[in-house]
Amino acid sequence: MSAQFPVARPRRLRRTPALRRLVAETRLSPADLVLPMFVKEGITEPQPITSMPGVVQHSRDSLRKAAHDAVEAGVGGLILFGIPAVKDGRGSGADDPAGVVQKALRDLSADLGDGAVIMADLCLDEFTDHGHCGILTPSGDVDNDATLERYASIAVAQAAAGAGVVAPSGMMDGQVRAIRTALDEAGYGEVAILAYSAKYASAFYGPFREAAECAPQFGDRSAYQQDPPNADESLREVFLDLDEGADMVMIKPALPYLDVVRRVRDAVDVPVAAYHVSGEYAMVEAAAANGWLDRERTIMETLTGIRRAGADIVLTYWAAEVAARLA
Ligand code: PBG
Repeated sequence: MSAQFPVARPRRLRRTPALRRLVAETRLSPADLVLPMFVKEGITEPQPITSMPGVVQHSRDSLRKAAHDAVEAGVGGLILFGIPAVKDGRGSGADDPAGVVQKALRDLSADLGDGAVIMADLCLDEFTDHGHCGILTPSGDVDNDATLERYASIAVAQAAAGAGVVAPSGMMDGQVRAIRTALDEAGYGEVAILAYSAKYASAFYGPFREAAECAPQFGDRSAYQQDPPNADESLREVFLDLDEGADMVMIKPALPYLDVVRRVRDAVDVPVAAYHVSGEYAMVEAAAANGWLDRERTIMETLTGIRRAGADIVLTYWAAEVAARLA
């Protein structure tokens, strides 16, 4: 054989679109995508979010329409975030049966039936006047165990309003057990828990804080969210959450933590989700708006990469758009 002819020619399988499609190792489908949505109390028209072009704070009515369209496009699920008209120290709006999220959950479960999984983010930061994810001690620390009681009550309120999945995102120790116990005692044994198990204290949440109007009024979340240098610790958090009754686990943000996504995927036998967060979204939108990136290709490569790293489910503000494109 001549030395000029390579024995192996990987390029053969890259030659045409049909070949590439045939041998693709990772596929993106609408059912894998979950759309985060914001609903704000007391507004009648949707309001744009400056740092997240294309994403809005919905009114009760505009949420129904957008959720319907997303489900029509085939998304696997929706996850709701609420912005109450009034905030206080204990986040009273979060478990009020007439609170903004509970009303929206009732609307969506009536409208959508089983067309997609309806999830609720379960946290306090959107509802507290201080912007932290829990109840504060007099010295301004987040009181872990007092916060667990609030989370338990929120879980029951969300389940009663029709959430099929609750997603605790506050990073309090023991939060999954507290929520599981409360749900079971209240007769909501069928409601599943998607635990934000490995949630990092990330700069990439910046635009979300505008979207949910929940920037901490003092300090930051480093005393409860994970420290970016740590990955082994994520596995510890994941196993604790599974012991406590989590049905699915999540890593957040996505792109800076794809190593964690892969390690968790290899270590557990439950569905793994990754959240491509507001700042990751904003970077692409800003660059694309400047003509610096091909927006559609960047979006597809981003979501495919997160799936390839091991995420079964991707939470993304592009979910409805991409689902429609894939369909
Ligand atoms: C907390 C919560 C946050 C996000 C989801 N749930 C904000 C935070 O922890 O500060 C961020 C999502 C995003 O940036 O897209 N309720």
